[in-house]
Amino acid sequence: MSLHKELKRITTNTIQEMKAAGEKIAMLTAYDFSMAKLLDEAGIDILLVGDSASNVMAGHETTLPITLDQMIYHAQSVVRAAKHCLVVVDLPFGSYQGNTKRALESSIRIMKESGAHAVKLEGGAEVADSVKRILSAGIPVMGHLGLTPQSIYKFGTYVVRAKEEAEAEKLKRDAMILQQSGCFSLVLEKIPAKLATEVSKNLSIPTIGIGAGSGTDGQVLVSHDMLGINHEFHPRFLRRYASLADIIAQAVINYTKDVKSHNFPSEAEQY
Ligand code: KIV
Repeated sequence: MSLHKELKRITTNTIQEMKAAGEKIAMLTAYDFSMAKLLDEAGIDILLVGDSASNVMAGHETTLPITLDQMIYHAQSVVRAAKHCLVVVDLPFGSYQGNTKRALESSIRIMKESGAHAVKLEGGAEVADSVKRILSAGIPVMGHLGLTPQSIYKFGTYVVRAKEEAEAEKLKRDAMILQQSGCFSLVLEKIPAKLATEVSKNLSIPTIGIGAGSGTDGQVLVSHDMLGINHEFHPRFLRRYASLADIIAQAVINYTKDVKSHNFPSEAEQY
């Protein structure tokens, strides 16, 4: 089953055209070949090799520990599978902050060693020079505002951001700065829906929301959350489209039972 109408590669231009045409953009995270192949074949527009790999793949509490080498490894696996969608890769914590040269070098490594199509970084005015420098090498950049998990120790909590006037005003300014700096798109994470709608209307580049309501130009979820593989995470914004944890658990129970009861393998399953 596939939603592909044609096998044309989705590019940064395509997703900008989608905003202009009022077509919503669907983005999911992917970190490995097998899952990326399933998601790409099912017709996803963008695969994000998110630094959430640090939580989902490696079991860390935050996104901070994942390294540039590890992100490149995940990105290589996803790129090998993605025949249709746009592949965007997160610049991990420590690979770009406060140093435009480092930001450019990290982005070049991601693009050269993985074959991905764009990078994503977190922050507003403070990363504008890095965005411009990365773009000077012809690398498209996606921004990320609102709840930016790489700053979790500054926030102290994963609650909704920009509920207060001052933070909302800063977010609006940052969004405009990122657009002017050349970002082709912007993730808005866990901010009030009204604010996300206003920002999306004021920008010409597409916004992609997570916990930011229905007024953004697209949506992103962590695949393992929306597929119910990770069943311990229940934020309000998460819609589960499957309960794979239950299906996997039942399959493993059945397999273990069959092995222990000499029921597997059968005669037909041996040589
Ligand atoms: O790393 C990630 O998965 C992300 C999305 C939640 C936007 O940045």
